[in-house]
Amino acid sequence: QAGVFTYDPGFVSTASCHSSITYIDGNEGILRYRGYPIEQLAEKSTFIEVAYLLLYGELPAAEELNGFRDIITHHTMVNEALLRFFEGYHYDAHPMAMMVGVVGSLAGFYHDSLDIYDSHHRDICAHRLIAKIPTIAAACHKHNIGEPVMYPRNDLSYSANFMHMLKGTPCEDYEVDPLAERALDLLFILHADHEQNASTSTVRLAGSSGANPFACVAAGITSLWGPAHGGANEAVLKMLEEIGHVGNIDKYIARAKDKDDPYRLMGFGHRVYKNYDPRARIIRSVCHQVLDKLADSNNPLFEMALKLEEIAANDEYFLERKLYPNVDFYSGIIYRALGIPDNMFTVMFAIARTVGWVAHWTEMVSDPHFRIGRPRQIYDGAPQRDYVPMADRG
Ligand code: SDX
Repeated sequence: QAGVFTYDPGFVSTASCHSSITYIDGNEGILRYRGYPIEQLAEKSTFIEVAYLLLYGELPAAEELNGFRDIITHHTMVNEALLRFFEGYHYDAHPMAMMVGVVGSLAGFYHDSLDIYDSHHRDICAHRLIAKIPTIAAACHKHNIGEPVMYPRNDLSYSANFMHMLKGTPCEDYEVDPLAERALDLLFILHADHEQNASTSTVRLAGSSGANPFACVAAGITSLWGPAHGGANEAVLKMLEEIGHVGNIDKYIARAKDKDDPYRLMGFGHRVYKNYDPRARIIRSVCHQVLDKLADSNNPLFEMALKLEEIAANDEYFLERKLYPNVDFYSGIIYRALGIPDNMFTVMFAIARTVGWVAHWTEMVSDPHFRIGRPRQIYDGAPQRDYVPMADRG
């Protein structure tokens, strides 16, 4: 059944579950949301429509889409008491640290009356998380820079509203460039879901005990923050800046290949894709457009990224291990071109992946037979032995 974690001792890795949301073929570089190829959704859909698709399994009719968009739009504000959580954070707290705490605190606003076995209540949770995460995300940045929180506007699209809350001030509105709005909406589509990745598996395992879904999403944000996962986009920009010049690339490639050096090339490799990540291919072409129109098309970081990709694509070590650029390799460059601060890159990932998290949580708890997840282990500790009194210990 969907959501039931089963453990096959012969399958050494982690527990696995059934799901009908996202399909990945790592060898063929295929990614589909509810059967629709990511390439078609990237070209023809919008993030709000993809959110509906992931949550409910079908592309919405016009009326359904308008109704869904209205619900999300009219729940973007957060309780004023929730904004006071930010006062407890040092001004330079990492936005992901604040996201974990403030999103988790939503559990305090929706708890006692919440019945996760009631589909209407599940919809309320999903809609409020999708609606409020961008508002909380932008507020994290405002706390970092000491500016007042910007309230959402109901006349803006999901992506434009986020940019308005991130970059606008009470003194001056922020007009988002249509290309930037489209680029952001596309990045949200590409990051929306990805099967049983670490953060989604975290949300499912936490939710499998019947825990409050807002707290489960906070657990997913925690897992996503890691540099091996969603934190890689911020780490890619740090890596490109550390490399500094195309001439230094070989030195860093050598480090990444050195087994005695834990250094890895950020933005390369994937646990599932042993072919090119289809999202990276799409993001790479958007990168060109955004930099041509919105930033310096000779952006040294982008030139360096292209050169790094070219060198790795011809290096035996990377070819043998099928290490290709992943979704995080180019996204940071676009975020920077859109004027989004580096420490907000993983927050951008969390905004998008909230849709996947709530879709998987809903799929799991909608199954009346879902059970608590209980991955097992291979024990390789000490055999049975008797207690040793203190006097006899070495
Ligand atoms: C995301 O799961 C998902 O779906 C995640 C994600 C999503 O949408 O949710 O796609 C998003 O998290 C993308 C990944 C972002 N992370 C990074 O870019 C960080 C850098 N990449 C690596 O840390 C690594 O590639 C992982 C974590 C992504 C995968 O790690 P694995 O599964 O341990 O890699 P592997 O076992 O396939 O590695 C095989 C070999 C190893 O060398 P050998 O022991 O065979 O000699 O490749 C090496 C690894 O050391 N290797 C790398 C490398 N990644 C793997 N060597 C240098 N640089 C790298 N980036």
